Amino acid sequence: MFFASTSIIALRVNLEDRKQPNSEDVCSRHNEMTAWAGGTPMSGRTGFYRSELLTALYGVPSNPVKNVQSGPGCGKDFPWSITQQQLVQWVDPMIERAIVEERPMVVIEIGVLYGGTSISIAERIHSHLTQDSLLRENSTVISVDTWLGDMAMWNNRDFQKQVHAQGGAVYDEYNCYAQNVQLSVAQDMIVPLRLPSSIAARLLYQKGVLADLIYVDGSHDFEDVLGDLNRFKYLLTSCGQLFGDDFHLDSVKSAVVVFANQNNLRIEKIAMRSHSGADQVGWALRSSQGC
Ligand SMILES: C[S@@+](CC[C@H](N)C(=O)[O-])C[C@H]1O[C@@H](n2cnc3c(N)ncnc32)[C@H](O)[C@@H]1O
Repeated sequence: MFFASTSIIALRVNLEDRKQPNSEDVCSRHNEMTAWAGGTPMSGRTGFYRSELLTALYGVPSNPVKNVQSGPGCGKDFPWSITQQQLVQWVDPMIERAIVEERPMVVIEIGVLYGGTSISIAERIHSHLTQDSLLRENSTVISVDTWLGDMAMWNNRDFQKQVHAQGGAVYDEYNCYAQNVQLSVAQDMIVPLRLPSSIAARLLYQKGVLADLIYVDGSHDFEDVLGDLNRFKYLLTSCGQLFGDDFHLDSVKSAVVVFANQNNLRIEKIAMRSHSGADQVGWALRSSQGC
């Protein structure tokens, strides 16, 4: 016990030496945010360490996923998660940036379901950072989901019947997600946050968390996508990036276009895959000034 806590302190001191808090991150977002974040003065920092983040969210520096009974996992054939091309084009450059800046990465996924995208991103970071175990051991992918379904699921007859048969309770896909995470080599990196995205955004902002990448894939309704973009933009590092999928859906495309125009951002697109008659398209928002 003594040795464990001594080595954690040594690691923290080492990492504290290396971090460069960015005061712009703190101040530029402050005024706009106080309105919706509860009026409390906030501070945000690039390069939040996983142990700090876990302690801020759960009171202890250990991952709650470890407390779920292990099992075979499920939903692995879910066909809509992030693709290799998206990882190469949008995740890898951020990993390179974090390596150069010698700090851990924070990534947020909004809408997680079985965890395919959170796991792919975490494994990507894990594989890139083998040469720097300090960074690998301190980067985090935060999985934000209610695990209570989205509009498409609630409009699906089979889903409705299942919920009805269960007395109104939604089958718990959280266990499925947690077991999938447990089977990943990057399991320590992936931290669940079981909240509606609107509350998760405020909570993470209050904790001072800023993310390098935010994957937006929760509710696909126009208002909800625009709401997620408008809230989570405050949680980006100065060069942080919002990205996602389903640009082929009118509701998602319209929200991303409105947000990009309002915030002077450029939209980048990528072909993801063809599935169930849909040519799925991914999107990312880039600063017009470059970064
Ligand atoms: C399409 S699935 C996500 C798929 C996942 N991103 C992937 O790549 O495998 C959408 C998920 O968004 C979640 N969701 C919908 N609205 C939400 C909200 N307001 N807050 C949090 N999660 C939400 C649903 O529970 C569902 O699990």
